[in-house]
Amino acid sequence: MTIQWFPGHMTAARKEAAKALALNDVVIEVCDARLPEASSNPMIRELRLHRQRPCLKLLNKADLADPAATQAWLDFYNRQPNVKAAAISCKKPGDAARVPALCKTLAPHRNDTFKPLRMLIMGIPNVGKSTLMNALLKRRVAAVGDEPAVTKMQMSADLSPTMTLTDTPGLMWPKIAHDSDGFMLAASHAIGRNAVIDSEVGIFLAGLLLQRYPALLAARYKIEVDGLDGVAAVEAIAKKRGCITKGRHAGELDLEKAAMILLTDYRGGKLGRISLETPDSRAAMLATEKSKSGD
Ligand code: G4P
Repeated sequence: MTIQWFPGHMTAARKEAAKALALNDVVIEVCDARLPEASSNPMIRELRLHRQRPCLKLLNKADLADPAATQAWLDFYNRQPNVKAAAISCKKPGDAARVPALCKTLAPHRNDTFKPLRMLIMGIPNVGKSTLMNALLKRRVAAVGDEPAVTKMQMSADLSPTMTLTDTPGLMWPKIAHDSDGFMLAASHAIGRNAVIDSEVGIFLAGLLLQRYPALLAARYKIEVDGLDGVAAVEAIAKKRGCITKGRHAGELDLEKAAMILLTDYRGGKLGRISLETPDSRAAMLATEKSKSGD
């Protein structure tokens, strides 16, 4: 599955983001702690490196991610120049409050009313940018929603006399280079329902869970997972949950419905704390792709 996705508002959003970067001191890049690299837009990195802006990399939704994988990602990002990484769950009261102090350390010279610290929230859709903005401002200014790209306009607010905060619309990029990134993004709902086929995404997720968290899959659906592949696991879920098609092909296993059950459970954290990638799994994926392309 190659995902190519560049609706008109994403092009406009890129231009807006480039302008906003010029006017801000620190980029707060929000990504999904369960898939930090797959949910990092390479265009954001390119824009911020071009402007030489320091970055606070926020691994958000850490409450849903595997803590060991999150720690490995924090170490990975904290080794990068001009980057500080933190894991948060901006739905938890108080977690977001750590963010301004972390940003201050990245631009200590911006510290008074004449030179306020200007922070810019960036990230792909549905990683929690609006939730973060609302938590920091302690009021609801940005629409929060689990449908991708709910935030469409840029919003700015004063956090204090010496700090401003700007939220940007979710920014996707033209072509997702690695198929597995597309699947991980779809599983985590950063890519809209119209762009992907749920059964394919569910089968991918089941395959990944079989590799990394087989016990969680077995426990949630009370299925025997030994020897299964992704398709067989979704079939097993369909049987267990009575997902049977109606209409012309009545009586067959409804894999679409079973895949949706799995995806909804994963998205809501019902399976347990799961990370779809680690620095090691990502390095292995990149090495495999490189050897396949013969570089
Ligand atoms: P965006 O601006 O980046 O597009 O994302 P937004 O804040 O709209 O958040 C997208 C969904 O992710 C929302 O779910 C939000 O509640 C959820 N979310 C944000 N931060 C966290 C977090 O740290 N942990 C968890 N578990 N979820 C988070 P929703 O279902 O649409 O809304 P709600 O019913 O949860 O409020």
